[in-house]
Amino acid sequence: MFDFQTDSALDKPELYDALAQAAQALVEGESDSIANMANLAAAIWQFLPDLNWAGFYRSVGDELVLGPFMGKPACIRIPFGQGVCGTAAASGQTQVVPDVHAFPGHIACDAETRSELVVPVIVEGNVIAVLDLDSPIPGRFDQVDAAGLERLARIAAKAI
Ligand code: SME
Repeated sequence: MFDFQTDSALDKPELYDALAQAAQALVEGESDSIANMANLAAAIWQFLPDLNWAGFYRSVGDELVLGPFMGKPACIRIPFGQGVCGTAAASGQTQVVPDVHAFPGHIACDAETRSELVVPVIVEGNVIAVLDLDSPIPGRFDQVDAAGLERLARIAAKAI
């Protein structure tokens, strides 16, 4: 059993330290990529406040296909270059979007979403997946969140 305790007194960098430790413990010794993506999505959901969606899209051919996630059912296929996820996948660059309505081509999977953070998962220079976090709060994600999620993406890259 994994019984991680989250502490609301932690500041944001400490929260990401705790999340990274939990993520490392979850994937330790496990090679099944679906199991690892599922547990990483669940850990993000448990540790980070104010999310309405958190999970993976996987690179399959020339598009992203929905992977394990927490939140409402979502769009299944996203071509590279489209939406926030497809932009992160095509560019290999983290996307911090304070206002999704101002992002050209944003794909609305949940009308409640107001801000979004998408981080590519990179193995040997290839984007094998993206980690997507959505929030109902405008401007929910900053550079500390981006750095924290990039750390998670490096853990995911070895585990999925
Ligand atoms: N909003 C994303 C699509 C995925 S959902 O948010 C889960 C995008 O524009 O790529």
